[in-house]
Amino acid sequence: MSLTLLAIESSCDDTSAAVLKDGKVLSNIVSSQKIHEEYGGVVPELASREHQANIIPVVTKALKLAGVDKAEIDGIAFTKGPGLLGSLLVGVTFAKSLALALDIPLIEVHHMKAHVMAHYIDDPVPNEPFLCLTVSGGHTQIVKVNSPTEMRIIGNTIDDAAGEAFDKAGKMLGLDYPAGPLIDKYAKEGEAKFHFNKPKIKDLDFSFSGLKTSILYSLKKWKTEDPDFIEKNRNDLCASIQSTIIEILIDKLESAARQENIKDIAIAGGVSANSGLRQAVSLLGEKLNGQVYIPQFQYCTDNAAMIGISAHYQFDEGVYADQSVKPDPRMVF
Ligand code: KG4
Ligand code: ZN
Repeated sequence: MSLTLLAIESSCDDTSAAVLKDGKVLSNIVSSQKIHEEYGGVVPELASREHQANIIPVVTKALKLAGVDKAEIDGIAFTKGPGLLGSLLVGVTFAKSLALALDIPLIEVHHMKAHVMAHYIDDPVPNEPFLCLTVSGGHTQIVKVNSPTEMRIIGNTIDDAAGEAFDKAGKMLGLDYPAGPLIDKYAKEGEAKFHFNKPKIKDLDFSFSGLKTSILYSLKKWKTEDPDFIEKNRNDLCASIQSTIIEILIDKLESAARQENIKDIAIAGGVSANSGLRQAVSLLGEKLNGQVYIPQFQYCTDNAAMIGISAHYQFDEGVYADQSVKPDPRMVF
C-alpha cells in the first residue's frame, strides 16, 4: 500500500512543511525567520507569530510542489518537542486541525530523533548500529542508533549546545545571528592561531560554557591592547573558535566510538552544516576505518523532511497521536 505523509516542523524559528510518498521526499519547504537577526537571537513571541503567518503558505507550497492534493494525504506528522512552546503550538494545532478535517492519523515526532533520522531520507541508509553526533542550536548529543525507532543518548551537553557556542562567540565578534554559518565562512580565510581553554569533562558529556568565558576574557584582553583587534583578526579568530569547538566534538565522538566499539559514525543538526566539522568527521571515519554519514545541507538545519521520514518509520509501527496531544517543550528522548 502506498503511504503519503504531510510533515510539519515549527519547533524554533523555521516554519517547514514536507510531503513524502513511500519514504521519498517530494517537497521540503523551509521558511526561515529573518526577524530575529536584529535581536541577536530568537525572540519566542515573535517566532510564534511568524509561524502563524507562514504555516498556511508553506504547507500550500509544499503540497503544490509535490503535486499532491490534500485528499491524498494518509497522515500528518508534526514536531511535538523539544522546542519553544509558542512555536510548537502553531505546528501542533495546525496538524491537529487538518487531521481532524481530513479524518486521518496524526504522528508525533521528537525533534532531536528526527535530526538523526535525516540519515534515512536518501539511499543508502546507514548500517546499524552507528553513532550520531547531533549538534544543533539547543542540543549536543552522541546518540547510539540501533534502528530508526530505537536510539539512545550516550553523551550530552551539561550546559550550552555547540550551536549556541558558535552563535555566542560570533556575537562577541559582532557577527549577526545566527553566527554559525558566518564563522564557517570567515574561518575558511583564516588560520587557527589563537588558543582557548578546552573543557575537561568526564565520560562522553560536553561543556561549552567554559570556552565561552575563555573567548570573552581573551577578547577583552586583546582589545585593551588594540581596540581594533577583532576587525584586524576576524578570520583567524573565527578559524580558532571553529577549530576549538570541532576538537571538543570530535574528541568525544572518537571516545564514544572506542568505548562502544562502533566504527560507523554520523553527524546531524544545524552545526553539521559546518564545513570544518564535515571534514573532521570524515578524517575520524578514516582513522576508525568505518563508514561516515553526512547529511545533505538541506537536511542539516531544521526541516520538515526529517519529521516526515521519522513518521514514515513510526507509521509502520502504528504509533499515532490523538486529538488530546499537546506540545512538549522538554520532550524526553
Ligand atoms: O538544528 P538547527 O537548525 O536548529 C535547532 O534545532 O537548534 O541548528 C541551528 C544552529 C545554530 O546555532 C546555527 O548557528 C548553527 O546551527 N549552524 C552552524 C552552521 N549552520 C548552522 N554552525 C556552524 N557552521 C555552520 N555552517
Ligand atoms: Zn533542530
